[in-house]
Amino acid sequence: MLKNIILMGPPGAGKGTLAKQLKESLNLVHISTGDMFRDAIKAQTELGKLAASYINAGHLVPDDVTIGLVKERLSQKDCEGGFLLDGFPRTLPQAEALQEIAKEISRPIEVVINLDCDNAELVRRISGRRVCKNCGAPYHIDSMKPKVEGVCDLCGGPLYQRKDDNEEALKVRLEHYVSETKPLLDYYDKLSLLKSFNSLTGKEILFDEVSSYLKK
Ligand code: AP5
Repeated sequence: MLKNIILMGPPGAGKGTLAKQLKESLNLVHISTGDMFRDAIKAQTELGKLAASYINAGHLVPDDVTIGLVKERLSQKDCEGGFLLDGFPRTLPQAEALQEIAKEISRPIEVVINLDCDNAELVRRISGRRVCKNCGAPYHIDSMKPKVEGVCDLCGGPLYQRKDDNEEALKVRLEHYVSETKPLLDYYDKLSLLKSFNSLTGKEILFDEVSSYLKK
């Protein structure tokens, strides 16, 4: 089974949703830089204050901060059994640093799963997304409704709309994706690590396709 995995795709492609499904079924550690920053914002740490100033406007957190955070997390013992990186790397310096980190800790990246999705669907998903304040589970007001409105099915926590899930910040996030993150698809293709999937098929079909591929 492939187990040191990067999940890539534009904002709203479904990286977080898929990561949560794969983490349960394949017993992998889920490392989401977006979730790590949001936890730091919630805890009002210095990192959180710095991250909020970038994230709320849709900008990327500086590379040195993000790379340091991921390096520390990947070095922890629970990553020995395999990890899912969700939202990292997003820039060429991050991708190059990750190659070095992976070498240092002897946990090489085995596959990069890319989720393709068109822009109209990304806008629909992001503008209707609601997230559990406690466990981070994602929902959608039309297509992935919780059983009880405003309440998480998994932990009973309250659902909220992320501060960066507005039209203005999304435009900036998409621009960063196109200029800084999308070029990494070529980078990983050249390393023969890239495998793309269509995320428009719906979350259960996508999960089946990706997990079958990882188990090959
Ligand atoms: P991050 O949290 O990583 O946000 P993102 O990449 O913009 O991705 P999203 O969380 O918005 O979307 P997703 O692809 O996970 O989709 P989801 O599964 O939720 O990062 C946030 C910010 O942190 C960044 O903008 C940046 O500022 C900063 N940051 C993070 N990492 C960084 C880094 N490495 N460097 C610098 N800065 C960094 O799904 C979206 C919606 O669609 C949901 O409503 C869901 O219910 C629905 N849905 C999901 N999958 C499907 C499906 N297959 N079919 C139908 N609906 C679906």
